[in-house]
This record gives sequence, C-alpha cells and structure tokens, in this order.
Amino acid sequence: MPIYSASALDFISRAPEQTRRLGFRLGTLLTRGDVLALSGDLGAGKTTLVQGIAQGWGSTDSVSSPTFVLVNVYRRPDGALLHHMDAYRMQSALEAEDLDIEEMLATGALLVEWPERIAGALPKECLRVDLAYVAEEQRSLQFTPIGKRAEEIAREFKKLAFGG
Ligand SMILES: Nc1ncnc2c1ncn2[C@@H]1O[C@H](COP(=O)(O)OP(=O)(O)OP(=O)(O)O)[C@@H](O)[C@H]1O
Ligand SMILES: [Mg+2]
Repeated sequence: MPIYSASALDFISRAPEQTRRLGFRLGTLLTRGDVLALSGDLGAGKTTLVQGIAQGWGSTDSVSSPTFVLVNVYRRPDGALLHHMDAYRMQSALEAEDLDIEEMLATGALLVEWPERIAGALPKECLRVDLAYVAEEQRSLQFTPIGKRAEEIAREFKKLAFGG
C-alpha cells in the first residue's frame, strides 16, 4: 500500500536518458550522511538512476551494478564517497551489519538497491525512491522523504525538477 505523504513527488520517465537526468539533479543535492533507498523490481531502473546521481554528485567514476560485489564506491575530487549497495543477494540485516554502514555515512552518501532485504540495518530516515515498469521505455518514479533532511532534499529536488 503506498504511503501517503504531502511531500511525495511523482514522475514518469520516458527514456533511460530521462531517468539519468533526474538522477543527475538529485545527485547535485546529496552530501555526507544522506541515504537513498531505491526500491523496484529487476529492471525498474534503479542502477540507471544511480548513473545519473553519481554524475550529478560529481564523480567521473563509471557506475555498474554492484550485484556481485555488494558495494561500489565512487569518488569525487573533494574526497567524499558515494556508496552504491545492492542488497539483492543479502540474506538478512545481519549480513549488512558487516558492511559498516556508519562508516559509509561518515565518509559520504549511501544509495541502496533492494533496501527491503536489509531493512533493519539501514537508518529509518532516508529518501525513498520507488521505481516501477510502466512500458518498455517508461518507468514511474516516486520519491518519498522520511525525516527532516530527506524532506529538505525533496523540496530542493522539486525546485530543480519542476522549477517551482
Ligand atoms: N525510462 C527508463 N528509465 C530507466 N531505465 C529504462 C527506461 N526505459 C528503459 N530502461 C531500461 O531498463 C533497464 C533498467 O535496468 P537497471 O539496471 O537500471 O534496473 P535495476 O532496477 O537496477 O535492476 P536490478 O534490480 O536488476 O538491479 C535498462 O536496460 C534501461 O536501459
Ligand atoms: Mg540494479
């Protein structure tokens, strides 16, 4: 059941490039300690969104799916790190606890694909992004902020995305 929130934002993307562009705008707003929880089926576009986020955030490192390594790290010139985790193959929050999420948040931002797999290990406050397949080239994206910092990101993102 979708969670009602006055500050939720909805988009329809009509091409992968459009999803990357949305990600780019969002990426410019992120800072150390920020968490994005990216939910959606296989192929919904989570990694595609992360490609744009990493660029907007200021990294020139290439983004690939961390399905087999669990966490990819992208750097930017000021030394901040963007941690890109894929929890699809994790069995429980316990497994995620070995990954030292505290350290990731101290050194940068954290983007998590399949966050529901390790819910207990993640901070409650985050920007939730729910992606869904609509048609071959169309995806829906819903952004739901949980907590004050995420609401601030969502407000700024709304201005960048809609100019309002
Ligand atoms: N509007 C769109 N936005 C994003 N991706 C799209 C869009 N239209 C088509 N696609 C395609 O859908 C696929 C999305 O794959 P992606 O790896 O981003 O999904 P994912 O959600 O990360 O999946 P997984 O759970 O397997 O990691 C890509 O092949 C991409 O080109
Ligand atoms: Mg992916």
